[in-house]
Formats: sequence, structure tokens, C-alpha cells
Amino acid sequence: MIMAVSKEKQNGILALMRECGDIILSAHAVETQSGAITVKPGEANFVTVYDVRVQEILIGGLRALFPDAYFYAEEKDNSAAAPAEGLCFFIDPIDGTTNFIHNMQCSAVSVGLYENGVPVFGAVYDPYRGEMYHAARGKGAYLNGDPISVSSRPLEKALISVGTAPYNRAHADQTFQRMCRVFLRCADLRRCGSAALDICWVACGRTDAYFEDVLSPWDYAAGALILKEAGGEVTTYAGQPHKPGEKASILCSNKVLHQTVLELINE
Ligand code: IPD
Ligand code: CA
Ligand code: CA
Repeated sequence: MIMAVSKEKQNGILALMRECGDIILSAHAVETQSGAITVKPGEANFVTVYDVRVQEILIGGLRALFPDAYFYAEEKDNSAAAPAEGLCFFIDPIDGTTNFIHNMQCSAVSVGLYENGVPVFGAVYDPYRGEMYHAARGKGAYLNGDPISVSSRPLEKALISVGTAPYNRAHADQTFQRMCRVFLRCADLRRCGSAALDICWVACGRTDAYFEDVLSPWDYAAGALILKEAGGEVTTYAGQPHKPGEKASILCSNKVLHQTVLELINE
């Protein structure tokens, strides 16, 4: 049986995320701070002391609220598969770390909660804009407490954001060819550098679709629930639901243009 997350606990999660947002905002000239940035294996994959600190605060605070939950979080060892049963948090302490290092002011804290493999709560906080997106299963999606919903724009009027799969450059040709095919049919493309915000911007109708190869579960877990609760659609490039806790190449959309964009992606 799936239990609803109480309002009290939801507010507890959101308060913790705001606290983490303040830590992100307190960071200045990260690139010049000695020892603040570490390079992870792979291409252009960085972690900062702020990612680690935010993650510690989130896990500590969430564990106090949900003592039985498992934590699947970007900056920890995730070699064990996320459990299929019970409560499991998917956490990205800073989604958009490269933006954060460059002070691009386009990064977010992302927290998704699954129960028995079903998403039950998700929140994404953009501290630069002071924008908190959240959704609980079956209860709609909200931006700073106000209900949000997807756009109804057709493809020719659509702004579509894309991810360049920066840590998987073997995908570059495919990715850029897909972008080109979609670009030739829509109003324009965008690339913001935070998958969680990309998904939330589809949810609130600023953009109309978003796609990216090989996202990790902490990138999309929260956003996918927010988008579905806002009336949007999320599938893999094969048109299937993503599997909880697994990497996935996903298309998020306002539903109206989902099928056409899927066809362009797969052409
Ligand atoms: C990345 C960002 C980026 C997306 C990458 C993600 P990170 O997350 O969301 O926009 O293109 O696929 O991994 O590494 O900054 O948390
Ligand atoms: Ca991320
Ligand atoms: Ca991250």
C-alpha cells in the first residue's frame, strides 16, 4: 500500500531545501577557492564542497523525518541498486554544478521520494529565483504554492529545451542530430544546464518539451512527478515509462507534442 506523505513532512522537506538554497546562494567565486572543486571520473564532471555539504544536510534532515528511508544521492556511493520496496529518496544536492561553478545562477536542489517504486513526492528548489516547485502524488503540482500546469502549444510554436549529455560524449553525434531535427520543426531550442529545472519549466508552461540522453535518477525523479501532476508526459525515447532508480534517456512534454517529438528523436 502507498501512504500519502503528510503535509507536515512535506513542509519539513521544503524547509530543508530552502536551507540548502541559502548555502548555494552564500557561495562566491567557487573556482578561486582552494580545494573547493574536485574532478569526478568521466568528461567535465565536477563536484564542489557545496554539493557535498548540501547533500549531508539533506540526508541528515530527511533521515530525522523518515528514519526508515534509503538514500540514493549523487555524491555518495550508489553501487547498491536502489531498493524496490520501502521509501527511497533520490537526491541531487546541486543539479547544475557546472553552472554553479561558473556563477550562471541556474542550478537547483532536487529531492524525489518513491515508495515501493512509485513516486509519491517531489520538490525542486531554484534558490536564485526563489522558486520552489513541488508535487505530491494525485494532488497537483505547485510553484511557490500556486497550482501550475503545462502549456498547450503545438510543435511549431514550441520552445524545447535539450540536454547535451555532457558526461556521455559518445552520444554527441546522435544528440546533436536529434536536436537538429527537432530545431527544424519548433520555434527554438534552449539549453539551461539543469535537468531538474528543464523539467519544471515544462511543468509550468514556460517551455513545451525537454529531452536528454542518459539522465541519472536523481536528475529526473522529482521533476518527473511534478511534470505528471502538472498534466505533462514523461517517457523514455522508446515511449515507455522510465524504470525507478535507473538511468534513462527521457522526453518530457506538454503531452500535445509528445508523439511527434518522439518520432523526430527516433528518426
Ligand atoms: C547535470 C545537469 C545537466 C545535464 C546533465 C546532468 P549535474 O547534472 O542537469 O543539465 O545535462 O545530464 O547530469 O551533474 O550538474 O548535477
Ligand atoms: Ca544532476
Ligand atoms: Ca548534481
